[in-house]
Amino acid sequence: MSGRRPLVAGNWKMHGNRASSSALLSTLRSGVGAKAQAEIAVCPPYLYIPLAAETLKGSAIVWGGQNLDVHSSGAYTGEIAGAMLRDHGCTYVIVGHSERRALYGENDVLVAEKYAAAQAAGLIPILCVGETLTERESSQTENVVARQLDTVIEKNGIASFTKAVVAYEPVWAIGTGKTATPEQAQAVHAFIRAKLGKLDRNISGGVRILYGGSVKGSNAKELFSQPDIDGGLIGGASLQAEEFLTIIRAAD
Ligand code: 13P
Repeated sequence: MSGRRPLVAGNWKMHGNRASSSALLSTLRSGVGAKAQAEIAVCPPYLYIPLAAETLKGSAIVWGGQNLDVHSSGAYTGEIAGAMLRDHGCTYVIVGHSERRALYGENDVLVAEKYAAAQAAGLIPILCVGETLTERESSQTENVVARQLDTVIEKNGIASFTKAVVAYEPVWAIGTGKTATPEQAQAVHAFIRAKLGKLDRNISGGVRILYGGSVKGSNAKELFSQPDIDGGLIGGASLQAEEFLTIIRAAD
C-alpha cells in the first residue's frame, strides 16, 4: 500500500434502529480499542449520526454521512447540508454511491457538485465509481470509470484529490455476494491511479482507493493485499460487529 494509511469504512445504508445502532457502535468501540493502524469510519443513517458522535468520541473510529445536499443551507425540504454533518463531527461523506445514481437519478454532474459541497464544508468525500454488469460485459469498465472521474476532475481539479477518497464499487458486486477477484479489482484500481497520475503523480500516489462490493471477513485480506487497494467500503458486513472487526484486522 506504499505509505498510504488504509481506510475501512462501513456504509450502513438504510439499516438498523436506535437500539441496534447503539449496540453496534459500542461493540466496535471496544473491539477496536484506542488505536488502530488502519483508519476506521462508519457511515450510519443521518438520524443515528449523533449517536455515533456520542459513542465514538475519543475512540479510534471516525464517522461520516452517506449523502449530502449540494446547497449549504436554504429552502430545500428534506435535505441535509455538509455543514450539518460537520456540526455533528463527521469526517467523511459518501458521494456518488451507485444506489444514489441508479435509484435517485444522481448523474455525474450532480455527483461532482456534491463532492465540491462536501469539501467546501470541510468533509472528505468518498467518491464512488463503478460499472454495471452490462457495462463490464461490453468492455466499458474503464470508459465508465474514466467518465465518472472526469466530471469530478473538470469541476474540482486534480488538487482536490488531496482531500478525497475514491471507492471503486462495481455495481454487480454490491450486495450480491459476488466479489470482484483481487486481480479484477486491482486492475481497475491501477487504472484509476494511472489516470489521476497523468495529471499529478504525487497526488495519485497519495490518494486512497477503496474497494467495495461484497467484502467479507473471509476475502478482505486478499483484496487489501493488492498494491493499489487501500482498504474497503463495506456494506452488509459492516452491520455485523465481528465481521467488520475481522475486515478491520485484515487492513491492519
Ligand atoms: P456490500 O458490501 O453489501 O456488497 O455493499 C457494498 C457497498 O455498496 C458499500 O458502499
